[in-house]
Amino acid sequence: MVTQVGIAGCGLMGSAIADTNLQAGYDVVIFDIKESQLSNAKEKLDKKINESNQRATVKYTNQISLLKNCDLIIECLTEDENIKSNFFKEIEENCDEKTIIATNTSSISINRLASSLQYPERFLGLHFMNPPQIIKLVEIINHNALDKKVLKEITQYLDVMDMISIECNDKPGFIVNRILLPMINEAIYCYENGTSDAKSIDTALKVGANHPMGPLELADFIGLDTCLSILRILQKDFNDSKYKPCPLLEEYVQGGKLGRKTKEGFYKY
Ligand SMILES: NC(=O)c1ccc[n+]([C@@H]2O[C@H](COP(=O)([O-])OP(=O)(O)OC[C@H]3O[C@@H](n4cnc5c(N)ncnc54)[C@H](O)[C@@H]3O)[C@@H](O)[C@H]2O)c1
Repeated sequence: MVTQVGIAGCGLMGSAIADTNLQAGYDVVIFDIKESQLSNAKEKLDKKINESNQRATVKYTNQISLLKNCDLIIECLTEDENIKSNFFKEIEENCDEKTIIATNTSSISINRLASSLQYPERFLGLHFMNPPQIIKLVEIINHNALDKKVLKEITQYLDVMDMISIECNDKPGFIVNRILLPMINEAIYCYENGTSDAKSIDTALKVGANHPMGPLELADFIGLDTCLSILRILQKDFNDSKYKPCPLLEEYVQGGKLGRKTKEGFYKY
């Protein structure tokens, strides 16, 4: 049974996933190599904890060994296969062999990541959306060696968090990003070739297709660098040019326009 959850990496996703765990009453240990990231997360979470009188506890650390007593560790490190694989090797030396280890990767193959673990049967993909406090879906990503008991335990854990989970197989982009990113890419092509302005393209999809956010504002929200890296992985892993990123997206990312996080993307913030 999961009672204590370790979160590795407390950037955008790690700190938000920590928040949803605390709200559901799970004790949390947050690990990151950067002190500045730990103090940013602490500032955000302390404010929330004081406002809501939560009873669950939270610890912050830059020492991986303090994740030792966690029943579940959710890896939310930078989207880089080497960083993640090295972390899995190191964490296995610092936790019990029954500890469940999950990755929040948006696009890296779960089978490939599983191959860096000594006990891959307790490893799986848990793809939370951004922000998990509002978007309740979690994609549970299967792989060849996964133990079905782990799947059952994780489903119960997500139920307590009031998240809605679906299972999916290890295919590039899983479900949400595989469908969403080609749409965002097409919206960028529409903008690039002058079909309309950004606001009209977003309004078209919001009103015409009943989407809560338009594709360009959503791209800014996700981060244009993240959108670009997911499209590149879809193109490479499917070996299909239909996923080729729009040149304008490449240009924006090269120019440091990454969306909300840099205060400029398709819109200014
Ligand atoms: N941004 C999104 O919308 C989104 C949505 C779903 C999933 N994801 C996935 O979540 C993961 C994290 O994404 P993010 O947007 O939070 O990234 P981020 O850059 O905001 O955070 C990454 C964190 O990892 C830490 N880190 C990097 N290397 C480390 C190491 N070796 N040891 C310990 N800490 C380390 C960094 O200091 C940073 O705090 C990625 O795999 C991403 O694909 C992102």
